[in-house]
Amino acid sequence: MKPDIFQNSRSLSEYAARLIAKVVSGKPDAVLCFASGHTPTGTFTCLVEMTKAGQVDFSHCHFIGLDEWVGIPLSAEGSCRYFLDEFFFKKLNIREDQIHFFDGMATNLEAECRKMDDTIARLGGLDLMLVGIGMNGHIALNEPGTPWNFRSHVSDLDEMTVTVGQKYFTEKTQLTKGITLGLQYLREARLPLLMASGKGKAPIVRQALEGEVTEQVPASIFQTLPEAVVLLDADAAGELEGNFEIGN
Ligand code: PGA
Repeated sequence: MKPDIFQNSRSLSEYAARLIAKVVSGKPDAVLCFASGHTPTGTFTCLVEMTKAGQVDFSHCHFIGLDEWVGIPLSAEGSCRYFLDEFFFKKLNIREDQIHFFDGMATNLEAECRKMDDTIARLGGLDLMLVGIGMNGHIALNEPGTPWNFRSHVSDLDEMTVTVGQKYFTEKTQLTKGITLGLQYLREARLPLLMASGKGKAPIVRQALEGEVTEQVPASIFQTLPEAVVLLDADAAGELEGNFEIGN
């Protein structure tokens, strides 16, 4: 795994969108998992434009939810589903039968996890799993210390996730648990894809990609995934010690 580094978040987003479109043109019924959060929003915008220009067609794809806040309704601003709805699904008229997300309001969260595992198995696994990296190194809501062989599971949120997570909500919101795909899915995805942008992510990007490989830093799993693609903008890559060239 060698990161590709881009001048800025715009060129990073455009490249990621072209990569995703390539996966879909090779497999029109691809099973895709897209992170919510601020990192991939530019990529979603590019994909919407590309779809409207006839360069990609998501009408046969399936979309798997990466994670969700427990206790937050799917329709609430700040939920992961809301994010994808606003930036992607609604803009492209993605049908409900194509969307498979966790319900953070489910009364039986364990059953919700097993349902997700069954859905992914039935669809033949993930073709692409696009994730961001949290300020504490988390991937999805796999917090530091989570075993890497987990499938869908309920997690206790790390203090940093609770604090940083407030940025998705317009008012202070109590967050304690998450429901999330586990990192076993990243290991099995045909294309595991990590994106990071901005100076704020530089220290954790360095720790994840050049530090110790440990479950304490979930994103360090990328060092163990030879097929993974890691896309960074120059700011997020700013503290890497390896000698990397900046691409487009
Ligand atoms: P962000 O979130 O894209 O909003 O920075 C990343 C994450 O916490 O996984």
